[in-house]
Amino acid sequence: MTLLQLNASIFSDAGQSSRLAGQFVAGRKAADPDLHVVVRDLSRDPLPHLTAERFQAFLAKPESRSGVQRAIVAESDALIDELRAADTIVLGLPMYNFGIPSQLKAYFDHVARAGVTFRYTDKGPVGLLTGKKAYVFAARGGLYAGTPRDTETAYVREFLGFLGITDVEFVYAEGLAISEASKQASLSKAAGAIADLNAFDRLAA
Ligand SMILES: Cc1cc2nc3c(=O)[nH]c(=O)nc-3n(C[C@H](O)[C@H](O)[C@H](O)COP(=O)(O)O)c2cc1C
Repeated sequence: MTLLQLNASIFSDAGQSSRLAGQFVAGRKAADPDLHVVVRDLSRDPLPHLTAERFQAFLAKPESRSGVQRAIVAESDALIDELRAADTIVLGLPMYNFGIPSQLKAYFDHVARAGVTFRYTDKGPVGLLTGKKAYVFAARGGLYAGTPRDTETAYVREFLGFLGITDVEFVYAEGLAISEASKQASLSKAAGAIADLNAFDRLAA
């Protein structure tokens, strides 16, 4: 089994979302030492913004792609291969300025490929990356979960679902900027949720 951990914090491993994702993955690895873990740090290895040039490279027929276009597509293909190979996706998800980090948006823009990760049918789009489970560890300074001000949950669920990843579990650590007490309470609640998730999934396995 392969697990892909995507860290989207600008603070890399030191981000609270990366730490929570890391706690979860450590629990998984302890339960299954053979688990193959791949970590992609979207800040340490940032992807460029999607541009018209990059998008046109995706659309161009393979035989007519220029050398530059082939390099662009190869970068996207490698990200998609990595995602496709994973049975479990773990995402460390910070909130910055009311939304997802731009590094994560750039990643999403490089793995959403018509005919590769989704396809259009008479009945609408169909995701092609099925059979996976995703866990999202969301860290926020304020309080948003369960309110219309939470721009991240519905968006990330929608995006992953579009690719066929419909089994998505969220764990929140919120109120991290409200006070030290609020931060500690929230982090220990998230740690409890992580322990419960790992215990539950061990029983279900
Ligand atoms: C540039 C920046 C913008 C932020 N914007 C928000 C925000 O809009 N809402 C919020 O609740 N917290 C905000 N925060 C606080 C972060 O959500 C919080 O620090 C969280 O721990 C970030 O995840 P990370 O530690 O994994 O990077 C912001 C933090 C930074 C550094």
